[in-house]
Amino acid sequence: MLPCQRHLFDIPDDVAYLNCAYMSPLMKPALEAGVAGLARKAHPWELTSDKFFTGSDEFRATAAQLIDCSADCIAIVPSASYGIATAARNLPVKKGQSILVLAEQFPSNYYPWQRRAEETGATLKVVAWPENHDWTAAVLNSLTADVAIAALPHVQWTSGGRLDLVRIGAACRKVGAALALDLTQSLGALPFSVRDVQPDFAVAASYKWLLGPYSVGLLYIAPKWQNGTPLEENWIQRANARDFANLMYTEDYDAGARRFDMGERSNFALLPAAVRAMKQLLEWNVAQISETAGALNRHLAEAAADLGFSAPAEPLRAPHYLSLRRKAAIPKELPEMLAREKVFVSVRGSSIRVTPHVYNTVEDGERLIACLRRIAT
Ligand SMILES: Cc1ncc(COP(=O)(O)O)c(C=O)c1O
Repeated sequence: MLPCQRHLFDIPDDVAYLNCAYMSPLMKPALEAGVAGLARKAHPWELTSDKFFTGSDEFRATAAQLIDCSADCIAIVPSASYGIATAARNLPVKKGQSILVLAEQFPSNYYPWQRRAEETGATLKVVAWPENHDWTAAVLNSLTADVAIAALPHVQWTSGGRLDLVRIGAACRKVGAALALDLTQSLGALPFSVRDVQPDFAVAASYKWLLGPYSVGLLYIAPKWQNGTPLEENWIQRANARDFANLMYTEDYDAGARRFDMGERSNFALLPAAVRAMKQLLEWNVAQISETAGALNRHLAEAAADLGFSAPAEPLRAPHYLSLRRKAAIPKELPEMLAREKVFVSVRGSSIRVTPHVYNTVEDGERLIACLRRIAT
């Protein structure tokens, strides 16, 4: 368990921010790195050609450490949807085959596959919501020989339902299905290893559990797909990009996954902030982050159970994610009360999504429980 790290964040004492799944707060050192990066543009004469590569190299190396792969396998993308579009463009699928997604999967990991199915005549196969909360079993049951691509998350984004990706990865290989992952709601808070899961593509936006800024993310691309087609064609993806005096046309791309980088990937403000945040995650250790957020959630789940709320237990639920549901409808006044008390969670339909991080205190949790007690009585 990690001691509370609130001192690294600019979170006022009267704010109980329990909504990392919406957007994480940028920690002070990452903000400083981003501000310093933005300021570099004030002196463009100091932004020499090498600077277009050093930030990107550092981003790739740090991201690779986080997901246990080679830096060559990392592309720099602006969003999860960009990464998923890259996967959808490159993974083969044909009429008679299917693309597997979860019921109520996040739209950015649904629309690209819906379009791909429409364009190819393939079927979009939707794994029904499992009554027993066991998404892994539900996916494994659906992984039949017709599945060409399984497009999945590690954690279902509203409920926190957890998928065992090591088992699912092995099952995909057995039926010959490609595995494309959206790790946006898990990477940084739930241990993940490319070596263990062996996905074909895996993307994570930086602004949630990677504690980074908005509009940047990492995309893992397995070596077997690295000769594929990027979404964009730009100068910096090409083999001669480092030679600013000689940028004329070449057929050759830069090595590994770099050809899939977004245009203007050398973002001088965003990359240093994203790198600083990922380094902090590595220092804390993702397993410890998971354990720390998980302990707070377990405590909250117990206290909320006394008030009529239920949540799936671990390991079917990811430790960093708690979705509290109760039979009775959630009173309309709850969101207003939470806002007044400066308790930040996501209230959706009949559930309350609570997603703490290492900046949260026991008191933050108690303030949420106090609000729930008021609506329960
Ligand atoms: C599971 C999941 N994936 C991706 C995203 C973000 O997608 P994008 O980067 O395309 O905006 C979110 C945002 O809430 C999400 O919950």
